[in-house]
Amino acid sequence: MTTLLPFRMAAYSRLARLGPNGPLLPLVKVGRFHQSAKRLILDNTGRTIAKSSVISEGKEKLTPVGQILLETIKTSGPVSVSHFIRQALQSPMGGYYKKGKDVLGVEGDFITSPEISQMFGELIGVWFTANWRGRQSKLPVRVIELGPGRGTLMKDMLRAMSRFPDLFSRIEHVHLVESSAELARIQHTTLGVDDSAGQQDHAHQTLSPISWHDSLSDIDLSEPAYNIVLAHEFFDALPIYKFQLTDRGWREVLVDIDEGQEHPWHFRYVLNPHPSMATKTILSPDRFPASQYRTGDTVEISPDAWGVAHSIAKLIQEQEGCALVIDYGDNHSFADSFRGIRKHKFIHPLSSPGEIDLTFDVDFSLLQNAVGDLATCHGPIQQNHFLGRMGIELRLQKLIQNAPNKESANELVEGFNRLVDPMFMGKVYKAMAITEPDYLPVAFES
Ligand SMILES: C[S@@+](CC[C@H](N)C(=O)[O-])C[C@H]1O[C@@H](n2cnc3c(N)ncnc32)[C@H](O)[C@@H]1O
Repeated sequence: MTTLLPFRMAAYSRLARLGPNGPLLPLVKVGRFHQSAKRLILDNTGRTIAKSSVISEGKEKLTPVGQILLETIKTSGPVSVSHFIRQALQSPMGGYYKKGKDVLGVEGDFITSPEISQMFGELIGVWFTANWRGRQSKLPVRVIELGPGRGTLMKDMLRAMSRFPDLFSRIEHVHLVESSAELARIQHTTLGVDDSAGQQDHAHQTLSPISWHDSLSDIDLSEPAYNIVLAHEFFDALPIYKFQLTDRGWREVLVDIDEGQEHPWHFRYVLNPHPSMATKTILSPDRFPASQYRTGDTVEISPDAWGVAHSIAKLIQEQEGCALVIDYGDNHSFADSFRGIRKHKFIHPLSSPGEIDLTFDVDFSLLQNAVGDLATCHGPIQQNHFLGRMGIELRLQKLIQNAPNKESANELVEGFNRLVDPMFMGKVYKAMAITEPDYLPVAFES
């Protein structure tokens, strides 16, 4: 069903020059944390030497995750942006993806491509089929989706694949990596899985088992297979670290308690006066030479995204297969794309931890770096180019021919426009393929 809800990137492009957090982070005085008087002062080794539990009035209601973060910071000092995000999204004590609510759609916080049009998942199914055929693999097929949302993309993809029995009959297992119990429940319903063995009862979908996992590393990947790996709007949900260049080199941006009255939220950014462990281990001088940045510049880096991309590449190298990553972002790192989303609006990412979605632009060059020589990356290319080369216009015509009425036909056209129009999702969303070396995937021919 088509809807005119804004997608997760929508208003952001208009904010891009300023940064969703307002002007880029001002450089905080280096040497000690910029703190309001007595609550928390760090000596020059970064240890806490004084603290109090004063919380300013006029602040938004502290969320359960906010309370935990507050206590953590009071006890051991400011936390990394990555820690803040991990707690806010995944804490069992009220993290955004652990709250037991459906975060997608009209009643939720954002809308995604598979929820906009069935064509999205169908064309991805056709893409994987074409590449499997091109590879002429004899191995059983394993399908893995990272972050399946409501399961709509997998449902549309499997329905499209079911029209190609040569591939479809070889699918021996579908694995869904999902951290949200509520979304996993919805995925069960969408995919027609109604028994504990994970067997589907929908005739039009695969009859192979479907399993749910907390992470990619939880899947038993020991049996050699041709791996079909899909990640749509997954990498943008993995925590980032943030760094800022000072006149003494790169320093990590941390999250501290904000007792000031300027903002309603309880947290704010500060700079670690010293090179933190993250600065030494995550910020590679080859990729981020200080000479190419100006004092005050910031960069966002996701080691989690690197790790997942590396694992996918290793799987493809050791076995067979190909992966498709679709997300908003570009082929470079970002300075200040970290943003919060609630009820289809952008809000400050340090506000209401656990209550809002947190997201970032994906640095596809980091994913390529993680893939290295293990496999080959293709793209990223714009979503409208990918879908155009996969024949979305023909598919639209076919669906319009079969539409029951004019209203349905209009909805199809509306969905098509949202997916491919450069003013909507066509340009900001990118597709990148990861394949075995020397394999050129469909739609990525230059
Ligand atoms: C933005 S939604 C995208 C959903 C879906 N791909 C779509 O396009 O509709 C992100 C998905 O990834 C899941 N997710 C987020 N972080 C995760 C993590 N660290 N591990 C596993 N799943 C995660 C969310 O629960 C959700 O299903």
